[in-house]
Amino acid sequence: MNLQERLEELKAQGLKAIKDSKKLKEINDIRVKLLGKKGQITEVLRGMRDLPKEERPKIGVMANRVRDELTNAISNRQDEIEIQKVAQKLEAEKIDVTLPGVPVKAGQPHVLSQIIDEIEKLFLGLGFQIVEGPEVEEDHYNFEMLNLPPDHPARDMQDTFYITDKTLMRTQTSPVQARTLEKHDFSKGPLKMISPGKVYRRDTDDATHSHQFHQVEGLVVGENITMANLKGTLQLVAKTIFGEDREIRLRPSYFPFTEPSAEVDVSCFKCGGKGCSVCKQSGWIEVLGAGMVHPNVLKMAGVDPETYGGFAFGLGPDRFAMLKYGVDDIREFYLNDLRFLSQFSQKG
Ligand code: PHE
Repeated sequence: MNLQERLEELKAQGLKAIKDSKKLKEINDIRVKLLGKKGQITEVLRGMRDLPKEERPKIGVMANRVRDELTNAISNRQDEIEIQKVAQKLEAEKIDVTLPGVPVKAGQPHVLSQIIDEIEKLFLGLGFQIVEGPEVEEDHYNFEMLNLPPDHPARDMQDTFYITDKTLMRTQTSPVQARTLEKHDFSKGPLKMISPGKVYRRDTDDATHSHQFHQVEGLVVGENITMANLKGTLQLVAKTIFGEDREIRLRPSYFPFTEPSAEVDVSCFKCGGKGCSVCKQSGWIEVLGAGMVHPNVLKMAGVDPETYGGFAFGLGPDRFAMLKYGVDDIREFYLNDLRFLSQFSQKG
């Protein structure tokens, strides 16, 4: 077989092998076998040395052409295989964008946080500041500064967990009144604050008692603050939480740190005041305690009761939430059962 025939043969075999190849590795082997340093075409070119001089150019041209053709064929086949590979991959990884997505479970604030947030928003809008106080409180602030000296009988209603003789878990958010009053600079204007937080009592847990629950304290002290201001403010709270049509009424009551003191009822949101099981047929539901700040409380905090006066109230978000949503067991709020908690989804 002369070189020309050999080249034709290599070309034909090569093109067929290239065409039949399925993998990049295969085609690379073909390239090495034909065109590599020790490849078959290279070998032919090397064999040209033995040809008579006049034949060399012809064979040379032909060998170059065959080499170019094979190179092209290899490169084209490589491209085809690459494209096929990508197509296969795309096919295998095909995503149906019309399939429904995996729902992301979004949490939400606890129902009590929702109530507290609503109250905070209302009072921020009225220009109140939000103040926090310690849950581990001194007897001094929890009782004494609120006009409850050590042997005061009203302490009995608020027995609590004592850390030491003088330190206890606060039974109410009212100590924040005393703490804030002490610090307030009245030359800069009246004090208007609310203080939400946890409180503790030595109660045995049952449907309506929890050893730990929440309160939001409110306090306004300044010049010319009257009971009408108290009533107007509480009316807003009632309407915000229980609905626009709610009315409130104040009944005389007793707290050592307010005088006069009142229990505040809201007209029943269930029956509108006609009488039903929620309001125990009375048309009214007791929701909070309030009153005009006792002069002793002001005096003890270094505020002159001749010049300044004001009102205070304490409400219970737990009780608000129970009434608003018809929850009949306060313990539900603290069991962290998602089946219970997820019912209170927020409306925007
Ligand atoms: N601290 C009182 C309680 O826990 C509520 C209250 C606060 C009453 C402020 C009057 C004024 O019962």
